[in-house]
Amino acid sequence: MCPPPESLPAPIEKIPALQPKHKFLLGALSWSTIVLLVATIILAATNKGNSSNPASSSAAAVSAGVDFLTSKASSDFFATSDEDNVCAGAKLAFDNKLCVDLEVPTPQAGANVTKGYVGDLDVGDLVPNTKPYWQSSMCPVNVHWHLGSEHYSVGQYDETGNGPNGNIPRPEWADRDLSGTGTEDVDTVHQVQDGFRCLHYDPNDSKFTTPYNWQHCEGMEVGETYEVHWPHSAAGACGTVNQYQTPFYDGVFCNLPLETFLTLGAQDIASAVGVHGQVFTIVNDESYFYPDMIRGMIVDKEMGKDIHIYTGSTTGETRSNEMCSQYAPITWQVDRKCHMISASSFDKMCYDMKMQRDDMSDDLHAHGSRELVNDDLAANNQYYPGAVRRNLRS
Ligand SMILES: *[C@@H]1O[C@H](CO)[C@@H](O)[C@H](O)[C@H]1NC(C)=O
Ligand SMILES: *[C@@H]1O[C@H](CO)[C@@H](O)[C@H](O)[C@H]1NC(C)=O
Repeated sequence: MCPPPESLPAPIEKIPALQPKHKFLLGALSWSTIVLLVATIILAATNKGNSSNPASSSAAAVSAGVDFLTSKASSDFFATSDEDNVCAGAKLAFDNKLCVDLEVPTPQAGANVTKGYVGDLDVGDLVPNTKPYWQSSMCPVNVHWHLGSEHYSVGQYDETGNGPNGNIPRPEWADRDLSGTGTEDVDTVHQVQDGFRCLHYDPNDSKFTTPYNWQHCEGMEVGETYEVHWPHSAAGACGTVNQYQTPFYDGVFCNLPLETFLTLGAQDIASAVGVHGQVFTIVNDESYFYPDMIRGMIVDKEMGKDIHIYTGSTTGETRSNEMCSQYAPITWQVDRKCHMISASSFDKMCYDMKMQRDDMSDDLHAHGSRELVNDDLAANNQYYPGAVRRNLRS
C-alpha cells in the first residue's frame, strides 16, 4: 500500500535545523568552516616549506600500506597458509607437447584478435563461452601480465607500436619482411621474451617517460605495453579467501580433481574455464588511475567493449608454434583495443595481490610473451554475432 502523502519525509524547508531562526547556528558553522580552511592552508604551506621531498604525502600513504604488509607478515591468517590454502598444489600437470604430436585439435592462444580474423584449425562444433564469465559461475582465480602483448590486434597492438624499448616485428609466416628487431628486454631481473606494443607511446610526452616510484610491482616501466590476464574458473575457490592463487593453475583446478577432470569433454572445459585479456600502455598520469584491477577486465566506457572471443590455450614463452600448451581448449575474451592506464593502477593491483592469502609474489613482475599463434594452430570458432559459422569439415 502507498503511504498517505502526509507521511512523506519533510521537505528541506520544514526541517527545523534549516529554518531561518537557526541562521545564527548556520552562520557559526560556516565561520568555523572558514577557520578550519585557513588552518588547513597554513598547515599545507608550512609542510611545503619544511619538506624537501615533494612526494611526502604519497610517502605517508605508502607507509600506511607498509603497515598492513607488516600485519600480514605476522598474521596467523597467512602464517598457516600452506595447510589452510585448500587450492595449494591443485594444479593438474600437463607438459607442453610438440604441436605436431597432438592427436586432437588443441587450439592455441594468443592469436590474432583483429576483427574478421578466423583461424585455420578446424575445431568442429567446439564453441567459446560468449557470456560474461560470472554468468557461468566462474570467478577470477589469478591476475598476471606479459611484457608486450601476446595477442595481436591490427592498429592497436601490432608491429607498428612502440615503447621505451622498441617493438618486435611481425612473424615471418605472416608474410611480411621487417629488418631490425629491437627485441631488447626491458626487465633485467626477470629476463623475458617480449610481445607487441601499442601505438600510444610518444617519447615527447612526459606521461610516457617520467619514471614512477614503484612500491609493489617489480621490473615495470612507464611507457611499456603489458597484456593483463585474469584466468577464470568455475572450479575456483570462488568467494572464499583462497580465490586468488599463484600459480594460477592451482586456482583453475582448485575444486577439480583429476578423476572429475577426466570425465569432462572439450566443450565442458571451454565452457567452465576462461581468461580475460586486456592490453595497456602504462602512463605516469593519475587521470588514468583505476583502483581495482585485480577484479577482472575493466569494462567501462571504451574499455572492455570491443571483445574478441575464441577458444585457445594457456600462454607464456614456453609455448611456441612448435611446442604447444595442452591446457586447451579454454575460452578467451580479449579486448581488441589498447588502453592507457596509470602506473599507480598496476602498483595498487600488486599491493592487493600481496594481501591475498596465497603467496602471489611470482606474479608481481611481467612474464614473457608467447610468439604469435600461427594460423594453423588458431581455432576457427571466433565469435562474430550474427555471422554464419564457417563449416570447414563439409
Ligand atoms: C590478423 O587478422 C587480420 C584480419 O583477418 C588480417 O588482416 C591480418 O593480416 C592478420 N595479421 C596476422 C599477422 O595474422
Ligand atoms: C619529438 O620532438 C622532436 C623535436 O621537436 C621531433 O623532431 C619529433 O618528431 C617528435 N617525435 C614525436 C614522436 O612526436
